[in-house]
Amino acid sequence: MDLQLRGLNALVCASSQGLGLATARALAAEGVNLYLCARSADKLAAAAADIRATHGVRVETGALDLSSGEAALRLADLAQQALGRIDILVNNVGGPAPTKATDTSAEQWRTGFEQVFLTAAQLSNALLPAMRAAQFGRIITITSISVLEPIENLVISTAMRLAITGFTKTLADEVAADGVTVNTVLPGVIHTNRIEDLRRAKALRSGTTLADEMQKTQQQIPARRLGRPEELGAFIAFLSSKRAGYITGTHTPIDGGLRRGW
Ligand SMILES: NC(=O)c1ccc[n+]([C@@H]2O[C@H](COP(=O)([O-])OP(=O)(O)OC[C@H]3O[C@@H](n4cnc5c(N)ncnc54)[C@H](OP(=O)(O)O)[C@@H]3O)[C@@H](O)[C@H]2O)c1
Repeated sequence: MDLQLRGLNALVCASSQGLGLATARALAAEGVNLYLCARSADKLAAAAADIRATHGVRVETGALDLSSGEAALRLADLAQQALGRIDILVNNVGGPAPTKATDTSAEQWRTGFEQVFLTAAQLSNALLPAMRAAQFGRIITITSISVLEPIENLVISTAMRLAITGFTKTLADEVAADGVTVNTVLPGVIHTNRIEDLRRAKALRSGTTLADEMQKTQQQIPARRLGRPEELGAFIAFLSSKRAGYITGTHTPIDGGLRRGW
């Protein structure tokens, strides 16, 4: 299927590795030019060089800490200066600090709000006017399966991603008639460094090993395996496409059947 994405421009946030990078690769494979961001300039440069060599698309990068609304506005400016109009925005952030609902300070809540909610809301609104004027735009936010079922120790992630889910649903309603779709994608357990880091920490707390924790996770998933980052990337590329123009305001788990509710 030709996704008719060739020549469009995408800003993919938090994209030097993991889900962001896999999404960038999936879009590049369809001929989309990219603006990538993350904190580490070296990792970003390596990712960008590899994508350019593999797919021949234009890849620009901005090394910045995407953890505040102000940083998001700066990023929107940088990406538009580098590529012109951004047709596709993929909101993604580094994982918020793990805390319990009973033990999260006001400062941690504020940080989580800026990092997870405000960055996505500010980026979306900064890039929307050009999308609406062009009568085409795609805003896709990577959230988490935790918006459907809480995950132990990840209350900031869960609460702030529920907030962005509400924002997305409302925004989808406001801009659908202008050719802009707004959706979220909910990873279950997709094999990235973050997944290993979280299980390594759990193994330390429980006196088990990383291998034990990975094995337990696998057994909880009906597909009996972790997801592959490219499986999430492929879905986001489809949502970005002109073929997906009638899909908006949706929240789709990519989880191998992990979420068993309706
Ligand atoms: N993997 C899963 O199964 C899963 C499930 C549910 C939710 N999620 C969420 O999806 C997001 C991505 O997860 P992942 O598994 O891809 O994580 P990952 O492998 O750790 O990758 C995180 C990426 O974000 C960048 N990053 C981190 N903090 C940043 C910051 N402050 N500013 C800019 N870039 C930043 C990192 O680069 P630098 O370190 O160089 O900045 C890296 O490129 C996270 O929010 C995670 O909680 C993932």
